[in-house]
This record gives sequence, structure tokens and C-alpha cells, in this order.
Amino acid sequence: MSNNLLAGKKGIIFGALDDQSIAWKVAEHCVAAGAKITLTNAPVAFRFGKINELAEKLNAKTIPADATKMEDLENLLTESMEALGGKIDFVLHSIGMSFNVRKNKAYTDSNYDYMHKTFDVSAMSFHRLMQSMWKLDAINEGGSIMALTYIAAQRTFPDYGEMAESKALLESYARSFGYHFGVSKKVRVNTISQSPTWTTAGSGVKGFKEFFNYADKMSPLGNASAESCADYCVSMFSDLTRMVTMQNLYHDGGFSNMGMSPALIDVAEDQA
Ligand SMILES: NC(=O)c1ccc[n+]([C@@H]2O[C@H](COP(=O)([O-])OP(=O)(O)OC[C@H]3O[C@@H](n4cnc5c(N)ncnc54)[C@H](O)[C@@H]3O)[C@@H](O)[C@H]2O)c1
Repeated sequence: MSNNLLAGKKGIIFGALDDQSIAWKVAEHCVAAGAKITLTNAPVAFRFGKINELAEKLNAKTIPADATKMEDLENLLTESMEALGGKIDFVLHSIGMSFNVRKNKAYTDSNYDYMHKTFDVSAMSFHRLMQSMWKLDAINEGGSIMALTYIAAQRTFPDYGEMAESKALLESYARSFGYHFGVSKKVRVNTISQSPTWTTAGSGVKGFKEFFNYADKMSPLGNASAESCADYCVSMFSDLTRMVTMQNLYHDGGFSNMGMSPALIDVAEDQA
């Protein structure tokens, strides 16, 4: 969908690994809506991902940054402001990694070094990013900061492991920093709680295929795709939503407010 909602705006998009990544679609949609962006990811993702392909297509500068390192984040912000010609108007944090899940550790046998790392990469990185932006005065008044999250922060999804707590922390950081950014800079901070989506991070969760189909049937509109998430992000980065802040915004086809769906009752009956 092409429009001019982001004409003249400058943004930074984290987390485009390959063309399945939600961030990949967001980057494409932001540029189509008139924004100028820089792209970033962990240095290791530059080696095995396809971010350079996207950068070429969108004529965007890439700046590697490990989101757990303050010096990398500060360098990213400084280089982005130089490349884009001024302060930033919007940022997407699209980063997730569970070390216990990746190492096949059961939730009831969690390794705490892994858990610390998961929180650092998946949640504290959002605080680090916002604190770096705050200290460098890197975002314009009226700007918009966004992170992607999942409903496991509110409800129990047993195979999501410690990512549930990571997302709860991430959403809380959005509210807490949202206060400070709101009163002093009129900047919005929100999280978008997205449907299950076929990506490298998403499909790493055990039983993802079955769960994806379950959520699709449970949601009156079906699962929200990465493309539609990108549209939602564009609207949240635009001036049309400048009074929305400190919110966790469900983008899930209605899943979060469902109790029971006849579509799933039919399946259960068939199996009875
Ligand atoms: N896919 C889903 O089902 C789903 C649903 C809801 C929310 N989300 C969230 O969406 C976001 C994007 O995930 P995705 O599904 O597009 O998967 P993805 O695997 O394409 O993206 C995850 C990104 O995190 C990056 N990353 C990991 N460690 C990093 C670090 N130390 N520094 C910087 N970047 C790092 C990876 O390189 C990768 O690009 C995540 O926050 C994820 O939890 C995904």
C-alpha cells in the first residue's frame, strides 16, 4: 500500500533478517509511504541474513549494532542522524531471541544464564535503545517509538518459554519510558502485539504450525500477516496517531478477545 503518510520522516528499523521478517515488510512499507530509513541488525545477522539485499532495494544505509551494547546503539543513532540529515522521527524494535527455547531447555528446567541473556536481548535492549535516544536527544518532538510483542505476556502459552516474561518486561518498559518521553518530548511509545507469523523467530517455537492454525481459526479476521503489521506500523509512525501512547495494541484479527470459536468446536467434535 503506497501513500505519503511518512513523507519527510526519518526512521530506524531493527531486525530485518530475511524477507520473512516482520521488520523487512515494515521497512518496505515505510519507504513506500515516503520515509527515509536506516536498517540495523546484530553483526552476526549481516553474515547469515539478507539485510544487504533489502538495503540495496530501499537505498538505505545499514549500520550493524548488537542491541545489548550501549556503544553500538549510540553509534547507530549518531550514524543514522548523520545519514538521514537530522533527528529521528520513528524507530521499530523488532528483536527477539530465547536462549532456553533455542537450547531446547524445558521451562521447568530453565538455565538462568540463558534466561538473563534472553531478557537482555529481547527486552532490556528496548530500554537501552530508549535511554540512548534520550541521552543523545535523538528523536524529534511528535516522534513514535514502537516494539513488537506477543500476547504470551498476558496469557499462558506453554511452549513460548521465557519469552513470555521478556514480552511482559518489554511492554512495561514501553509504559514507563512512554511517560518520560511523553511529558518532556511529546514522543509516543507503544507495543504492537502481533499474531503468530511465519518467520525465523516465530517458527522456532515448538508446535508453531499447529498453533498458527489454531490462532487462525480462533481469530474472526484470521491471523494478521506481516504485511498488515507493516501497514499498522506505518499508521503508528504517522501523525494520524500522535495521541496514542503507552499502549499495548493488539494486531491479531480479534484473537485476544475471543473465548471460544465455533470453527474450533467443529474440529474438536470431528475428533471426539
Ligand atoms: N513471528 C511471530 O510469530 C511473532 C509474533 C509476535 C511478535 N513477534 C515479535 O516480532 C519481532 C520480530 O521477530 P520476527 O518474527 O520478524 O523474527 P526474525 O527472526 O525475522 O527477527 C528477529 C530479529 O532479532 C534480531 N536480533 C537477535 N538478537 C539481536 C541482537 N543482540 N541485536 C540486534 N538484533 C538482534 C535477529 O537478527 C532478527 O533479525 C520479535 O520481537 C518477535 O518476538 C513475532
